[in-house]
Amino acid sequence: MRKPIIAGNWKMFKTVKEAREFASQVKGKAEVDGVEAVICAPYTQLAALVDALQGTSIKVGAQNLHWEESGAYTGEISGPMLQETGVQYVIIGHSERRAYFAETDETVNKKVHAAFKYGLTPIVCVGEKLEEREAGRTKEVCKTQTAGALQGLTAEQAAQVVIAYEPIWAIGTGKSSTAEDANDVISYIRQLVQEQFDAATAEAIRIQYGGSVKPGNIREYMQMSDIDGALVGGASLEPDSYIQLVEGAR
Ligand code: G3P
Repeated sequence: MRKPIIAGNWKMFKTVKEAREFASQVKGKAEVDGVEAVICAPYTQLAALVDALQGTSIKVGAQNLHWEESGAYTGEISGPMLQETGVQYVIIGHSERRAYFAETDETVNKKVHAAFKYGLTPIVCVGEKLEEREAGRTKEVCKTQTAGALQGLTAEQAAQVVIAYEPIWAIGTGKSSTAEDANDVISYIRQLVQEQFDAATAEAIRIQYGGSVKPGNIREYMQMSDIDGALVGGASLEPDSYIQLVEGAR
């Protein structure tokens, strides 16, 4: 059985002080048996969050990493640096990074390999733009992105990856995909994993939905056969809403 995973993606929000306050408010509450709760925060907050959430089941993740271990890459953060902070997850290839920071399937793949090298679990984002959806290209786009991201991994590594299917038109717009549509694409992604690896890997890999998920709709997604949780932006920023999302994934 796959354990559902609710990951908050704070994007470029909150100060260290606010992150600590958030942690103290969700402690003991966003901790639900059978659900993995993760908070992916900006770099400056990671050490403080790991510290504040010590002894809880809530895990911390970053939102990006560079694939090199060190070097002349001004402004970048590497796998060993993240590992040192104690984070366990890292989001890779979010559509905002693909759109504004020129990330490609190739750099996403390098980052996925770097994450494994430094003991981090990648949350890999895939998903189509509105015009691609309207042109009937959703599955083709997801296929290219998924195959690219997972290239060169062992089946054992692939089984540990978390994929987040985030249709770009649904991000931050309030226009969420229907649970049925999201499940259709997610089961297709699972089938791709089976073709690229094997049935056991496809059965084990967790695939989340992301895009305007909130406490009011999380249960609809969780009722679907292939949706293993959610990657949540806006609705993960308030403690009460985050707690309800984790409870809703039970
Ligand atoms: O990574 C999560 C995300 O892009 C979805 O954002 O605000 O629509 O939940 P939001």
